[in-house]
Amino acid sequence: MKNISILGSTGSIGRNALQIVETFPQQFKIKALAAKTNTDLLAKQIEQFTPELAVVFDAASAQQLKQKLGASSKVEILYGDEGYQAAASDATVDIVLTAVVGAAGLKPTLAAIEAGKTIALANKETLVMAGEIVTMKAAQNGAQILPVDSEHSAIFQCLQGQRKADLAQILLTASGGPFLNLPVDEFHRISTAQALNHPNWDMGPKITIDSATLMNKGLEVLEAKSLFDVSEDMIEVVIHPQSIIHSMVAYQDGTVIAQLGIPDMKAAIAYALSYPKRLPLNQPLPDFSGRQDLTFQKPDLAKFPCLALAFQACKAGKTMPAVLNAANEVAVNAFLNQKISFPAIAGVVEMAMEAHSVHANPGLSDILVADEEARQNAADIVARM
Ligand SMILES: NC(=O)c1ccc[n+]([C@@H]2O[C@H](COP(=O)([O-])OP(=O)(O)OC[C@H]3O[C@@H](n4cnc5c(N)ncnc54)[C@H](OP(=O)(O)O)[C@@H]3O)[C@@H](O)[C@H]2O)c1
Repeated sequence: MKNISILGSTGSIGRNALQIVETFPQQFKIKALAAKTNTDLLAKQIEQFTPELAVVFDAASAQQLKQKLGASSKVEILYGDEGYQAAASDATVDIVLTAVVGAAGLKPTLAAIEAGKTIALANKETLVMAGEIVTMKAAQNGAQILPVDSEHSAIFQCLQGQRKADLAQILLTASGGPFLNLPVDEFHRISTAQALNHPNWDMGPKITIDSATLMNKGLEVLEAKSLFDVSEDMIEVVIHPQSIIHSMVAYQDGTVIAQLGIPDMKAAIAYALSYPKRLPLNQPLPDFSGRQDLTFQKPDLAKFPCLALAFQACKAGKTMPAVLNAANEVAVNAFLNQKISFPAIAGVVEMAMEAHSVHANPGLSDILVADEEARQNAADIVARM
């Protein structure tokens, strides 16, 4: 039996993880659940999974949750940074699934690492912002980081039983998103509804927009660099529209090992929760005998400048990835609120990166300052658009 804390339980990853826990009640017990403000769903999850601790964003949400659960509920309710950190470091918890969206995931993930927990990491922004610090602290505290992102889970699986010294290249696959074949001169007409309609994956709104701009793939390059301790020159992005191959690893003898499956996050989440065991998920296999094209192409960096910007941030390193990430969060939010156009997302990120002077040897506080300044700067750029 593994005791689990889920940060972001009301989101797409969190809900999928709870379905796995529901299916395998002999293997997992929920100790803590954390969300932001969706107290309706959190209250239902608490009733079903009976955690000891529940966390929300602020006092008002905590009060709402208390009312929804009623006086007979035994769950302890906390809120804010203190609450998220308590859910991340609870002494009885074995695995912390960090499925919060955005930069908000960094501090609780670090708290879980400092408490020596096993981290099932969905929140890629943690490694994008502070990859070096996070992986160093994980090594110091003996905290294992198991990837939940499907591509990184695929790479992790392809690396099992191999020698790191034999690794030649990581081939990170990308679906290309809904606008892969749309002419670039029509990009200014893209609506939020069109961008939220991903062809293969059902995900939360921020990552769905990131998938449409290919920023998601850029964030994943940064994530892979830290997670697998490789240089960005060893990571190649390959567009594979069917999302059947979840990523590949090439070795120095020319062998390529790929991980395949249907596009469903459950397998990657379950593998991180049950590693090194595999759970009988009863997922269908990809349809190999019927019509199943597997095609590949190079990403078009001129059409999808967010990916080029992420490679730039990767090369610059230090505080630049945090700036890329923060400006992107602001720009995506502005696009979702219909304040800027789809192509303007890359424009905001580019301007915020140009305005930033990279900090030579950043500690965590420098990264958090760079994040804050980039957010303010990006908000000003949006306001001027
Ligand atoms: N969805 C996928 O298939 C997928 C695949 C690979 C990686 N990921 C990564 O997994 C993470 C979660 O993605 P998602 O698609 O599950 O997102 P989502 O559906 O938007 O869910 C986000 C979760 O985080 C909570 N949250 C939001 N802002 C917060 C804050 N400031 N403080 C604390 N909690 C906060 C939300 O609570 P409320 O509901 O109360 O707002 C919700 O539970 C992201 O980093 C994403 O890149 C997702």
